[in-house]
Amino acid sequence: MKWDQSFSIGCDLVDIQHKELICLVDQLESSLESGLTPQQLGAALKFIVNYTRHHFSAEEAFMEKIGFDELENHKKLHSNLIKEVTDILLSLKHGENLNPENLVKFLVDWVLKHVQEEDQKIGMFARNRKHLAEQTECKLKAEHSRRQLTLARLEKLKDLFKQKLIKIEDFKEQKVKTFTNMLREVGLNQLRAGFDDLYYFLSQSVICNHELKAIVVSFLQTSDLQKGLAEIIEIEDRLLYLRSFQEFEMITDDQFDNYKAEILDAL
Ligand SMILES: [Fe+2]
Repeated sequence: MKWDQSFSIGCDLVDIQHKELICLVDQLESSLESGLTPQQLGAALKFIVNYTRHHFSAEEAFMEKIGFDELENHKKLHSNLIKEVTDILLSLKHGENLNPENLVKFLVDWVLKHVQEEDQKIGMFARNRKHLAEQTECKLKAEHSRRQLTLARLEKLKDLFKQKLIKIEDFKEQKVKTFTNMLREVGLNQLRAGFDDLYYFLSQSVICNHELKAIVVSFLQTSDLQKGLAEIIEIEDRLLYLRSFQEFEMITDDQFDNYKAEILDAL
C-alpha cells in the first residue's frame, strides 16, 4: 500500500507520519520474507510501537484541536493497539515462541485498516469543519458589505439634507425606502438575514422603532404573500415571512392560521 493524497486528514504533520508508518510496516513485511530472529522481530516491533506512540499523540492533539466528535472512541483504538503490541513484546522478552508471520500480519493489517478507515473519519470531519468555517466567513463578509452599503446610502441622503437639497419629509421617506430596498436586495430566501440587519441598525440607533415598523410594512406591502410563500424554500423562512404579515396586522389571525396550516401540511 502507498500513501496518496486521498489519505490526507488535513494536518501536514500527521500526514507525513502516516506516510512514514505505512513505509515502516511495509519494510517489516519485506524483512519477514528474508527471515527474522525473535530478537530482530522484537527490535522492529519496539521501534514501530515507539513511533506509533509518538504519532498517536500528534494525531490526538490534532483531533482535539478540530473538536473531533469521535475523539474518545478513536483514542481507545490507539490505546488498545499500544496495549496489544506491548503485551506481544513482553511475551517475546519472556522467550515465548510466537509466530512472527502472525505478529507482523496483525500489525500491518491494523495500521493499514486504521489509516484507511478510522483516520479518514478525522479527515472528513476536518474538511466539513473547514467548509463550515468558510461558509460562515463568507456570510459575515456579505453581511458586512450589505450593512456598509446601506450606511453609505444613508450618508448620501444625510448630505443631501445638510446641503438643503431635500426637505426633512423627503429625507424620512427616502430613508425608509433605502432600508426597504435593502430587504428586497437580500431577497425573501434570506429574509432572516435582512431582519437581522434591521435589528442591528436599531441597536446602533441608526433607525428607531417607528422607522423599523415603517420599513417592514413598506416591504410587505409591495410583496405578494402567496407568491412569496411559494418562492421561499425553507419552512422556517416561510413561517417568519407569514408571521411578519400578522405582526404588522396586514392579515387577520384566521388568515394567519390558514396559511400556517398550509405550510405545515407541506412538511
Ligand atoms: Fe488514528
